[in-house]
Amino acid sequence: MPNVVVVGTQWGDEGKGKVVDVLAKSAQAVVRFQGGNNAGHTLVVEGKKLVLHLLPSGVLHEHCVTVIGNGVVVDPEALLEEMHALEVMGKPLHPAVDLCVSHRAHVVMPYHRLLDQLREEAKGDARIGTTCKGIGPTYEDKVARRGITMGQLVDPEQLRARLAELLPQKNRILQEWYGAAALSEADLFERYSALGARLKPYVGDAVGRLHRMMAEGGNLLFEGAQGTFLDVDHGTYPYVTSSNTAAGSACVGAGVGPTHIDEVVGITKAYTTRVGSGPFPTEGDPGTDAWLREHGGEFGATTGRARRCGWFDAPLVRQAVRLNGVTSLVLTKLDVLTGLSTVRVCTGYEGDPCGPKGLAGVRPIYEDLPGWEEDISACRRVEDLPENCRSYLDRLEELVGAPLQMISVGPDREEVIRVGDLFA
Ligand code: GDP
Ligand code: IMO
Ligand code: MG
Repeated sequence: MPNVVVVGTQWGDEGKGKVVDVLAKSAQAVVRFQGGNNAGHTLVVEGKKLVLHLLPSGVLHEHCVTVIGNGVVVDPEALLEEMHALEVMGKPLHPAVDLCVSHRAHVVMPYHRLLDQLREEAKGDARIGTTCKGIGPTYEDKVARRGITMGQLVDPEQLRARLAELLPQKNRILQEWYGAAALSEADLFERYSALGARLKPYVGDAVGRLHRMMAEGGNLLFEGAQGTFLDVDHGTYPYVTSSNTAAGSACVGAGVGPTHIDEVVGITKAYTTRVGSGPFPTEGDPGTDAWLREHGGEFGATTGRARRCGWFDAPLVRQAVRLNGVTSLVLTKLDVLTGLSTVRVCTGYEGDPCGPKGLAGVRPIYEDLPGWEEDISACRRVEDLPENCRSYLDRLEELVGAPLQMISVGPDREEVIRVGDLFA
């Protein structure tokens, strides 16, 4: 059985959570390897919606172990809140059985959230439009070797020592640069040691756990967060997130070698959306933007912000196929396009996307394809789809250069058309 990495091929919110939930049926573990609770992954099962931010999208499968890898940044309060919500649903996560959090994952502290907000406010119109969850400042501290790991959080002695070393500098920045109030070391220690005590049973050697599962023949599903063009190296810098979102990041962020990865599944929305600032070549004219937002329910799962919407951008996804080594694609939200008389696809650009201005320096070239009127949400085979819809799929596959594995025609777990035989 293969080990599979699932990544977003656009700017996030492609439907990764839904697809991971579908694939998790045949996986022993689902592993998050980067990002934090800036992510919002929606699962719909029998009409009931669950939005996950930190917990891997395998939590609804009883047989599935969920792992938060070393590459993730963890807000302990947010994680406990999500765990509590599952408990209320009658699906408690048992330590050492259902959930393992790497002791090497870094902790999002209150000063990280504060700095994220204060910086965004100070930037005014130049703001990145972050989720203000403290993700960027936490990764900065990790790389600067002044972070706090989950292992340190759950050990009061180490936590006390780390806070004593780190907080004076944070307070100086908060007070002198931003004119904000200082944080109390004693309060932070009290609060965070208590959170650490609650999480301690879940924190451990995630790498060892994953390798034991693989040795026993288990197959792993690595769940990416954000999307390829939010990658700090390959995205629309500086309008990106602060981690590597590309598939290669799964190896470092979970502690497995590239030789352990068998397949990379790229999740692609049948049109394009983006939350926050930054270039977006196919961003719709006002009519299209509003139409897609309304029909696709394009409002952020984490911040509730309206997502910017536009047509499918084939050269963008083609580049994502390269950057991630995508072996197959899952096309989501195809049902949303139903009712449009014409569906536009960007087939190329005027201008050089690899030039100094990147995507900010290009104009899309479009091809118009005829739309379809028929409701496709009950279709479960490609043959059931209207002819114009199938022509749209054929054209996308051809333009993007990767085969379709699955097509999603509604938010529910059951609303899929399987094309390939991955996890059949
Ligand atoms: P993620 O961040 O990639 O997991 O995606 P989000 O959960 O943030 O956003 C995707 C949204 O689209 C969620 O509200 C899903 O329930 C919904 N969704 C996923 N697949 C489909 C689909 O095929 N059709 C429709 N109509 N909605 C979908
Ligand atoms: P999922 O996993 C869409 C965007 C923010 C902002 C930029 C930086 O649900 O697809 P950050 O808080 O990460 O420093 O913000 O990245 N962003 C996302 N956009 N989906 C996400 O996650 C995102 N996570 C971050 O809107 O533009
Ligand atoms: Mg999302």
